[in-house]
Amino acid sequence: MRRIGRYCAGLALAAAVAACSDDAAERRRALGPHPSPGEALRAADAGRGGRLFRQCAVCHAIGKGAVDRDGPNLFGVMGAPVAANSPRFAYTGVLRALGGTWTPERMDAWLAAPAKMAPGTRMAFPGVADPLDRADIIAYLRTQADRP
Ligand code: HEC
Repeated sequence: MRRIGRYCAGLALAAAVAACSDDAAERRRALGPHPSPGEALRAADAGRGGRLFRQCAVCHAIGKGAVDRDGPNLFGVMGAPVAANSPRFAYTGVLRALGGTWTPERMDAWLAAPAKMAPGTRMAFPGVADPLDRADIIAYLRTQADRP
């Protein structure tokens, strides 16, 4: 188990990180192929989400008060107004035009396919295909806040 952990830590590809995860396969089986965001979130594992966040960390810091990278700092983003989590970040007009706040359902849609939700967004990221991976990431985002 420890050897596997170290092996996973050295891998850059998110898919490979996901493949190394402990009970994800079991949770996936229990959820079935098309869980709703709510169902997936109820089974979510924030710890695993933190590991999956490595693919986001290329562009996003998530520490309180941390600087923006290619993307805005994501500390406290769940529940925050869309395109406003980091006041100093130059968001695109398409993202700003969405309005509303980051609910779990909207975050699920965003992480599944950013360019589909906001065509022309500067978030150059294809999306996370697996619903459970998205739920785990959302659960992790929730923990990185003053009020989870
Ligand atoms: C290649 C760089 C890159 C990667 C990788 C990336 N993002 Fe982003 N992200 C961006 C950029 C740039 C924006 C701003 C988009 C815009 O203004 O259109 C953004 C915006 C966001 C926002 C909106 C923040 C707000 O204030 O409303 C969220 C949430 C987000 N990203 C989450 C994630 C998550 C979670 C991942 C990993 C699964 C991820 N991103 C991966 C670059 C990236």
